[in-house]
Amino acid sequence: MNHKVAPSILSANFLNLGKEIEMLNESEADWIHIDVMDGVFVPNISFGFPVLDFVKKTARKPLDVHLMIVEPQKFISEVAATGAYMMNVHYEACTHLHRVVQEIKKAGMKAAVTLNPHTPVLLLEDILADLDMVLLMTVNPGFGGQKFIVHSIEKVAVLKEMILKKNLSTLIEVDGGVNLETGKQLIEAGADVLVAGNFVFSSNNPKDTIRQLKNL
Ligand code: DX5
Ligand code: ZN
Repeated sequence: MNHKVAPSILSANFLNLGKEIEMLNESEADWIHIDVMDGVFVPNISFGFPVLDFVKKTARKPLDVHLMIVEPQKFISEVAATGAYMMNVHYEACTHLHRVVQEIKKAGMKAAVTLNPHTPVLLLEDILADLDMVLLMTVNPGFGGQKFIVHSIEKVAVLKEMILKKNLSTLIEVDGGVNLETGKQLIEAGADVLVAGNFVFSSNNPKDTIRQLKNL
């Protein structure tokens, strides 16, 4: 029950975004997960900084910003200006990952590196100590409501072992296809933060669904 829950507003009703965020404010959600997509790094476009400015004004929980974009290093100050707590950049999108991570921290945010399902966690060996969090994609990024990739559970366990061996406190976040069943397995394998979009927002009672995810 020590894990965090970060609902993803990608599955929210954008026509009522203010209300949806108010619901998250009142819920047991720990963070609000925000998915920015550029149509290049992933085959979909979501929303950008003008929307985030309104989210910032309404949200009373830390913002966990997940950038599914190429060249994320170009937008560090823009993300910082949204008041983001955590900035997630993809391993696959950063040639000079170490530099990007340092710049995120210099801008006053926590730094997280995200791995696509095909990217081995062992590639993080030489950057892990610099990271506040690793976000493991448990679906291919780009869309909400996709089927969970079962192999992810093994990846979480391997990453947890790497973190413990190095005596680090790096968090493990998982994103994609999370529900009560997969969420439980992921926590047992060592996940610290569950992102859930479709499972929360398509349920009849999102607040109660968040509570159930918290109680796993
Ligand atoms: C997918 C996004 C996720 C997405 C998760 O590319 O990164 O955050 O919202 O959605 P669900 O929980 O519906 O799989
Ligand atoms: Zn995400």
